[in-house]
Amino acid sequence: MRRKLVAGNWKMNGSAGSIRELLQGILAGASEVSAVELAVFPPFVYLDRVAQQLEGSSIVWGAQNLSEHASGAYTGEVAGPMLNDFGCAYVLVGHSERRTLYGESDQIVARKFAAARKVGLKPVLCVGETLEEREQGITEAVVGRQLQAVLDLEGISSFADAVIAYEPVWAIGTGRTATSAQAQEVHAFIRAQLAAQDPVLASQVRILYGGSVKGSNAGELLAMADIDGGLVGGASLDAKEFLAIAKAGC
Ligand code: PGA
Repeated sequence: MRRKLVAGNWKMNGSAGSIRELLQGILAGASEVSAVELAVFPPFVYLDRVAQQLEGSSIVWGAQNLSEHASGAYTGEVAGPMLNDFGCAYVLVGHSERRTLYGESDQIVARKFAAARKVGLKPVLCVGETLEEREQGITEAVVGRQLQAVLDLEGISSFADAVIAYEPVWAIGTGRTATSAQAQEVHAFIRAQLAAQDPVLASQVRILYGGSVKGSNAGELLAMADIDGGLVGGASLDAKEFLAIAKAGC
């Protein structure tokens, strides 16, 4: 049985005050959704506060990005071992905003995935096609290529402690969600690509859906056979919405 994971990607949002309030709200309702694993991904600079506030709770946390390097002259970057100092369980790699706005190639993403694993952080590998790619009918080719870059570098066994997030770029922050059938189709494709190398492991890997997930559409999405949770952006900034999404996964 794959335990569902509902993860809040806060992106570059929040302040010390708003984050404290948001976590208070989530903590207040967390016991009602304990069947689901909850994770939050704050901006780096708030990790320390988040760690202190969530310490001892059932909610885990992670970072939105990491460097492919362990240390050195990389101004402005944050390395995996530093994230360990703040008790991170997870780290996002290859979010579409990193790929498109910051030029992260499939190879860079694969190296970040490797850097995370090397220090015991569970990578959440984000994959997904743009609207143009979907319209060209190359969704599976694009997602398959993004996944294969990691398989080539790290091998199938590396997915034993990783999570995948399928996030169609056209659905992120647009209010336009993939239908549950559209999402399920890609999730099944991803699982099949893993199963071609190791069917048992493939059946254990959690594949999250991301892209305009909210309380009102989460039930339908999370009911699909290969959708094991959600990576939530906008709606994760509202404790009630975030908890409603988690509830849908219980
Ligand atoms: P969204 O973002 O829920 O605001 O669409 C999802 C994501 O980018 O992870």
